[in-house]
Amino acid sequence: MNKLYIKHSIVPKLRRFSPWIYVNEIDSPKEEFGSGELVAVFSKTDGFLGTAYVNPKCTIFGRILTFGKESIDKAFFAKRIQKAISKRARLLTKTNSVRLIHSEADFLPGLIVDCYGDTLSLQINTSGMEAFREDIIFILKQELNPSWIIEKSDENSRTIEGLELKNGTIFGEPKAQFEIEEGAIKFLIDIQESQKTGFYLDQRRNRAICASYIKPNDKVLDLCCNAGGFGIYALANQAKSCVFVDISEHAITQTQTNLKANKFANYEAYAQDVFAFMKEKKYKDTFDMVIVDPPSFAKTKEQSHGAKKGFKQLLLEATRALKDGGLVAIFSCSFHIAKKELLELAMEVSHDLKVQLVLEEEMMQDSDHPCLINASASFYLNGLLFRVEK
Ligand SMILES: C[S@@+](CC[C@H](N)C(=O)[O-])C[C@H]1O[C@@H](n2cnc3c(N)ncnc32)[C@H](O)[C@@H]1O
Repeated sequence: MNKLYIKHSIVPKLRRFSPWIYVNEIDSPKEEFGSGELVAVFSKTDGFLGTAYVNPKCTIFGRILTFGKESIDKAFFAKRIQKAISKRARLLTKTNSVRLIHSEADFLPGLIVDCYGDTLSLQINTSGMEAFREDIIFILKQELNPSWIIEKSDENSRTIEGLELKNGTIFGEPKAQFEIEEGAIKFLIDIQESQKTGFYLDQRRNRAICASYIKPNDKVLDLCCNAGGFGIYALANQAKSCVFVDISEHAITQTQTNLKANKFANYEAYAQDVFAFMKEKKYKDTFDMVIVDPPSFAKTKEQSHGAKKGFKQLLLEATRALKDGGLVAIFSCSFHIAKKELLELAMEVSHDLKVQLVLEEEMMQDSDHPCLINASASFYLNGLLFRVEK
C-alpha cells in the first residue's frame, strides 16, 4: 500500500478522529496517487495514523476508513455495515424505513443506504467507495435479504470524483409505488422518480415535534412540502386543513397520493414556486402553523449570501401569514446556514415586521442520520420553531 504523508500541523486533527484530509494538508506529491486508491497515512514525526482512500481530483483528498491497523477488505465492510444496521434497531420498532448507512457518520465515507421496508436505496458518492461496490452489494444482500436494490448515485459529487452518474435497479424487481410506515401514518414512495435517495427520512422526528403543537381546528401551511410529510402529520394530529406547496409537479402528485392513502380530503395542493405563490396569495393572519423547509439554496460558502436572502423572504412571508400566537418552523439543510444564521434572520424578521418571535424548539436531523462530533459537516440539518406574538 502506498504511503501518504500529511503535514505535521494536521496530526492533532487526525488524533481527534477528524475523517478528512484536504489537498493542501498533504506532504506527498498528489500525482503519485490514483483515484480511489487505498493509502497508509503517515506523518514524518508521528508515524502511522490510519488508512484512507484518496482522490487527487478532489479538494477532500483523503477520507479515513480506519484510525487503527485493520485490513480493508470484505470482512471490514461487513463489520461496519452490521454495526450501522444494529444501531437502527430502536428506530425500526417505530417505522419500517430508515437511513441504514450515513457515510462518514457511520464510518463508511461516501456510502449512503436507505431501507424502505424490504427495498434498499444505495448511493455511492466517491471513487474510494466505488472500488468496493461489489462487496457492499454482496453484504447488503446477505444481511438484509432485500427484494429490490435501486441505485440513486446521481449527485454532482460523483462528477467531481470523475465517476459517471448511476441510477437504476441493481437487483430484484422494481416497484412503481410502495407503502412505508411512520407510526400510524402511511407514505407511498415512487423511488425511481423521487428526489435524493427516496424520502426525507431525516425530518421524521421534526415532523412529530411540529405535529405535537397542533390543536384541533388549526390551519396549516406546508411550504416546500415534497411528499407532504409535515402537513400530513399535522392532519393526523387533528389539524383542520393544510395547504401544500412545492415547485415539483411530481412532489405534489405524491403529496396527493399520500393524502388519499391516509384518507384526508381537507387540503389544497399547489405545484408552484413558493416565492411566486406567497407573493400572489398575500396571506395575512391566516394560519396557525407554517412550515418552511426549502432546499439548501447554498451548496458553497459563496452562495450563502443569496441563500440568506431567500430564507429571510420565506420567513417574512410565513410570519406575516400567521395568526397572533401562531407557530413557524424553519429548516435549513445547508451547512452554511446553520442555527446561528437562522436565528439572525429571525431577529431581522422580528425587527422588520415589528413582532416578537419566541423560540419553542431547536431541531436537528433524526438519529438515523448521526452527527459525528469530529465531522462538522454531519450537523447538516437545523430547524427552529418560533411562536409569533403579534
Ligand atoms: C428539503 S425538501 C422538503 C422536504 C419535506 N418538507 C419533507 O419533510 O419531506 C425541499 C423541497 O423544496 C422543493 N423546492 C425547491 N425549490 C422550490 C421553490 N422555489 N418553490 C417551492 N418548492 C421548492 C423541492 O422540490 C423539495 O421538495
